[in-house]
Amino acid sequence: MAKLSIRIAPDPVLKARAEPVAGVDARITRLMDDMLETMYEAPGVGLAAPQVGVLERVIVVDIAGKDEPAQPLCLANPEVVWVSDEKHTYNEGCLSFPDQYADVTRPAQCRVRYLDRSGAPQEVEAAGLLATCLQHEIDHLDGILFTDHISPLKRNIIMRKLTKWKKSQAA
Ligand code: NI
Repeated sequence: MAKLSIRIAPDPVLKARAEPVAGVDARITRLMDDMLETMYEAPGVGLAAPQVGVLERVIVVDIAGKDEPAQPLCLANPEVVWVSDEKHTYNEGCLSFPDQYADVTRPAQCRVRYLDRSGAPQEVEAAGLLATCLQHEIDHLDGILFTDHISPLKRNIIMRKLTKWKKSQAA
């Protein structure tokens, strides 16, 4: 496995639409494994392929806590097939927005159809943090960022802080 470099906003690749994969072959499982390693090292609970500069519909998620066994989920071509009317607000972050957080309201539950790491079709019904995380990562595949769900004022504040953060990293 190899650690990949994470794109930091603003970056045009984060706003682009990712293409479906034809199937889960050795190249895609390797991408999934590399993305998991990158996500664990960051550390984060989810990562989408565009965040490592790959415009393909692949995401990885693991919401297990620090002291729990890992529960990696690898999803190719994930598709939200159902969402609840009930909403939930969660203070979201994103590995492409280091140290930035904002409250985002999304459906509290969702059902997602996808191909797993062996290429088999699967469906997962999610609630709580997993539901939030899956919707956040699937948004990435359509170039939608968590900052697109908040007010322009809050978005500008985050982008200004991020510009400062980038400068401090470069210094
Ligand atoms: Ni994100």
